[in-house]
Amino acid sequence: MSLPSAPRINPSILSADFVNMQADLARIATADFVHVDVMDNHFVPNLTFGPQMVERIQATSPVPLDVHLMISDPDRWAPGYAELGAASVTFHLEAAAEPVTLARRLRDIGSRAGIAIKPGTSGDSLYEILDEFDQILVMTVEPGFGGQGFMTQAMPKLSALVAEARRRGSSVWFQVDGGISDDTIAQAAEAGADTFVAGSAVYGAVNIEAAISGLRERARAASLEA
Ligand code: DX5
Ligand code: ZN
Repeated sequence: MSLPSAPRINPSILSADFVNMQADLARIATADFVHVDVMDNHFVPNLTFGPQMVERIQATSPVPLDVHLMISDPDRWAPGYAELGAASVTFHLEAAAEPVTLARRLRDIGSRAGIAIKPGTSGDSLYEILDEFDQILVMTVEPGFGGQGFMTQAMPKLSALVAEARRRGSSVWFQVDGGISDDTIAQAAEAGADTFVAGSAVYGAVNIEAAISGLRERARAASLEA
């Protein structure tokens, strides 16, 4: 499978209509991936769905799956999402017992391996294990809910991680998630993000295709300037 090039726009179906999922997936056919937020009411104070639903999304989606696991004990549960065919599986550093072992397992199954950090978590411990991952997700809200405000204060951490990764010759992708909109995407692109999750900014738009291409153009312009 050839991978979409940057900037990538991944709409989050947390903001879709859960009882019209098939139609809401069809509406994002021009996106790069569909961002699938799995929440367990334990790692975060919200509950979405598990593997049975994600398997149906995998069977129905016009674009590959970018699964974001906001769950405890990803060491146990994450491989199942790779096995059902998700192109990318991201778990949280704060929740994983053995992140490197888990990342290797995800790659062995055939998925991209991603690691996410919450706004209060330092990125420093990722430097030594960068090569084990295909994507680093720097959260720009506290995970759990869509529609929150973008945390500008996460940008220095993102820039530092990007600089260190490039210094080490890594081509890992940098994803941001939370509060991404026409007003905030440029800041994240300037800080080095290449992959952008957007929930309410896409599903809240009257014209979804125009919202996706508008975000992509803003990110492209900002990263060229950076
Ligand atoms: C929040 C989720 C996000 C959420 C983003 O915990 O991880 O993916 O859907 O929604 P917006 O783009 O509305 O902030
Ligand atoms: Zn997410």
